[in-house]
Amino acid sequence: MSQEQWRQVDTYLTDTLALDNPVLTLALEDSRAAGLPDISVSAQMGQFLNQLARIVGARRILEIGTLAGYSTIWLGTALPPDGKLVTLESRTRHAELANANLQRAGLSDQVDVRLGNAVDTLQELVDAAVDPFDLTFIDADKPRNPEYLSYALQLSGPGSVIVVDNVVRDGRIADTDSQAAGIVGTQAMLAMIRQNPRLTASAIQTVGNKGYDGFCLVTVE
Ligand code: SAH
Ligand code: DHB
Ligand code: MG
Repeated sequence: MSQEQWRQVDTYLTDTLALDNPVLTLALEDSRAAGLPDISVSAQMGQFLNQLARIVGARRILEIGTLAGYSTIWLGTALPPDGKLVTLESRTRHAELANANLQRAGLSDQVDVRLGNAVDTLQELVDAAVDPFDLTFIDADKPRNPEYLSYALQLSGPGSVIVVDNVVRDGRIADTDSQAAGIVGTQAMLAMIRQNPRLTASAIQTVGNKGYDGFCLVTVE
């Protein structure tokens, strides 16, 4: 078992299930051409998020960490016509590229890219007492995962779902002596989940063209 095999199988499955389309491919190409890091979700993970949003019947989606809007397109296309998605991004260049990609995807009217440090925009959303989000995708700076979970809970209601990306990181999550802020942050977030009686969670390891990682699925009572 190797990264090369994971990539081959991922490519086979993505081709066989016809998950790619020109809007998604162009979003990735423009992101790469602009020099943004190649850290968006895989097509499989994007489709999984899209299906999850449909299963939940999500009308309001929150995303923390936009990058070029690749995962945003997958999530946004799951919305009903009157649905809304708010996505949070701190880098101007990322937000600009995301807006262009979302425009091409026909999602500009439904998606709001909020520029700024996510902890600030999340606090603004809480202060504005916005309606709860049905689905939240946490995928920004990993040291802040505990804060992001806390805000996501304040912005969730009964039946809401939260997905946290990158909870395995090549297995480093299981290193209880880790000094890496991203690992420590995610470990602290998992501990918060366990201590909260409102929450139920599973964490699934994944391999594919993005390597060995995983996601955590959290349901809110
Ligand atoms: N969800 C995207 C990938 C996001 S990568 C996808 O799968 O397509 C993480 C993003 O979070 C980067 O664009 C980074 O600039 C942004 N980010 C990092 N720290 C942030 C912060 N404090 N507030 C808002 N965005 C942040
Ligand atoms: C990184 C961030 C991500 O959200 C991801 O999916 C992969 C890698 C990173 O910061 O390295
Ligand atoms: Mg990620």
